[in-house]
Amino acid sequence: MYKIAVIPGDGTGPEQVREGLKVLDAVARKRGFRLETVTFDYGGDYYLRTSEVLPAGALDELRRFDAIYLGAIGHPEVRPGILEQGILLRLRFELDQYINLRPVRLYPGVETPVAGKGPEDIDFVVVRENTEGLYAGSGGFLKRGTPDEVAIQTSINTRKGVERCIRFAFEYCRRRNKRKKVTLCGKTNVLTYAFDLWERVFHEVGAEYPDIERDYAHVDAICMWMVKNPEWFDVIVTDNMFGDIITDLGAMIQGGMGIAAGGNLNPEGVSMFEPIGGSAPKYTGKNVINPLAAICAAGMLLEHLGEAEAAVQVEEAVKKVCAYHLKSLAAGKMGYSTSEVGDLVVSYL
Ligand code: IPM
Ligand code: MN
Repeated sequence: MYKIAVIPGDGTGPEQVREGLKVLDAVARKRGFRLETVTFDYGGDYYLRTSEVLPAGALDELRRFDAIYLGAIGHPEVRPGILEQGILLRLRFELDQYINLRPVRLYPGVETPVAGKGPEDIDFVVVRENTEGLYAGSGGFLKRGTPDEVAIQTSINTRKGVERCIRFAFEYCRRRNKRKKVTLCGKTNVLTYAFDLWERVFHEVGAEYPDIERDYAHVDAICMWMVKNPEWFDVIVTDNMFGDIITDLGAMIQGGMGIAAGGNLNPEGVSMFEPIGGSAPKYTGKNVINPLAAICAAGMLLEHLGEAEAAVQVEEAVKKVCAYHLKSLAAGKMGYSTSEVGDLVVSYL
């Protein structure tokens, strides 16, 4: 039995999570394990009601679960940044979820904007550092609001943080057992301190993995190659900011936010799984949002719990729904409602 904390969140988050839980319940029943879920109503409405983003003790409570399943965070009546920092980033940092794992996989039947490329070409994973870099919140203002003002935001890169991220990427690449290649995505020609550290650690750690090819590309070039030659990639490892940017590009080439899922991993602690798109408030309550990203996140959660066969079963079911049913992955254009898509996935389990 696994204990899962569920944070449905804002906007269409709850509708997406509902379908994810439907699939989790069904696969658990079929495979003979149990999931006990506890729902936490954190998000925009909770904040507007209580004036607090997370109550005292929330972190300690969440630490007691085997995993966290998150819908989406972002509310039109809450100033941008408050919920993102107060919930999403706070959980990533305080639970030390130092890896953000984002598969970029094009399923058969899904349309990609990249002409001439198919499922055999678009199949890689981005390992994004998730607790440091420009996200660490180091910096400040001087003379803010005056003509002399200065704003400084510093990218923090620790040896420990960089090394554990790179090591995870090599281990993951070995387990994935595909092209056996890890590409470091950096900017060594300009960010000569931060990516000097990344590059040194990359080769040091990489030398322990003689079965895995080491490759390097600047972040701008990666954006080009992801569109031009996505088949070159197997595992891409990068810092927090670059990882944020290139995974939105990745989401687009795999068919859009409707299918893009990610995991915030602390391999030694509590990990959190989420669709990487936003709360899409304009579709709230209409039963038109695509739940596949949340369902794929649920699949990643199963894999993380050690239920590898259940995870494969979910992914295979999602592939069939994409191949045989959905007209498009975009909200309102699927040819099915949100709950019908969840039912279809369950029917293929
Ligand atoms: C993501 C999101 C977050 C990030 C935002 C909402 C803070 O864009 O998960 O990629 O920048 O990490
Ligand atoms: Mn992002």
